[in-house]
Amino acid sequence: MAKEIIQVKNLKVHYPIRSGFWNRITDYVRAVDDVSITINEGETYGLIGESGSGKSTTGKAIVGVEKVTGGHIFYKGVDITKSRNRRKLNYNKDVQMIFQDSLSSLNPRKRIEDIIAEPIRNFENLTTDQERDRVQELLDIVGMPSDSIYKYPHEFSGGQRQRIGVARAVATNPRLVVADEPTSALDLSVQAQVLNFMKHIQQQYNIAYLFISHDLGVVKHMSENLAIMHRGRLVEIGSREDIYNHPVHIYTKRLLSAIPQVDVEHREEHKKHREKVEQEFQNDQSKWYDKDGRVYPLQQVSGRHWVALPKEEVEQEQMNEKGED
Ligand SMILES: Nc1ncnc2c1ncn2[C@@H]1O[C@H](COP(=O)(O)OP(=O)(O)OP(=O)(O)O)[C@@H](O)[C@H]1O
Ligand SMILES: [Mg+2]
Repeated sequence: MAKEIIQVKNLKVHYPIRSGFWNRITDYVRAVDDVSITINEGETYGLIGESGSGKSTTGKAIVGVEKVTGGHIFYKGVDITKSRNRRKLNYNKDVQMIFQDSLSSLNPRKRIEDIIAEPIRNFENLTTDQERDRVQELLDIVGMPSDSIYKYPHEFSGGQRQRIGVARAVATNPRLVVADEPTSALDLSVQAQVLNFMKHIQQQYNIAYLFISHDLGVVKHMSENLAIMHRGRLVEIGSREDIYNHPVHIYTKRLLSAIPQVDVEHREEHKKHREKVEQEFQNDQSKWYDKDGRVYPLQQVSGRHWVALPKEEVEQEQMNEKGED
């Protein structure tokens, strides 16, 4: 049995919208609205959705840099939405984040040595020599030359900066790294390089990743389990097999059809399929979303496979899944 590392239960993050002369709160952005996921030790869990669906907000809530409106996040059985508990557990050492934007997340006035050493200094008492050795070792792991330590973030390319971000995130030997679109700004060949480094580090140190992306293609070969997010809620969760081979929700199908095709021969066919899915998405809103356009609660259709459906549709989908086996 896989051992759980993080359990997110009914997480909500709502931002107030203020307006008018008195600047009163008139409404809320429900950036994350009742999200529950469980991540196992050493696995890659994919969190996928289009821009604005609430992925970064979920990731930031998990690492504890975003105030939660409701729900719980359990680590070692303790609710770490309370900052007192995070301190007690040394949570900020065990759970790290690679931020979406590498340039703004690396302090431009600091040298790479200090950027990577910062989390180590917060949690460990190393001598200057030990610390330098550790930084060199981390740079080596992500394939960066040793003289990088004297340079500043702007002296590197996007791909190199992302690798520095990876080195910093794994510096304290964390158990979980929230990787927020770590490769989205990079071209394909560099993307593959960074992903390979991440995989390699994961195997070596048994780190779990919450891998955030808008592209189901990027995470296909990495993720054991995935959650698909839309409008602050989850539309579908399941194993890699469930999501890629037996998708149920129209939004998941739409993301799948958006994966760029390299296969020239079937390009025309693929284009037709994409148009069909898009049309279904536009036409069948009332089947997949409630009258306010909100995503339905998740219902179990088989083992680990859950889909946001109105109750009356569940039995039909359960039958469909059985039929496929
Ligand atoms: N600090 C904030 N104040 C108000 N609204 C916010 C804040 N941060 C995020 N939002 C809103 O919450 C929603 C979710 O934002 P979030 O950054 O989590 O999306 P995302 O899925 O990461 O998108 P992207 O793929 O573009 O990074 C958006 O509608 C966004 O405008
Ligand atoms: Mg984001």
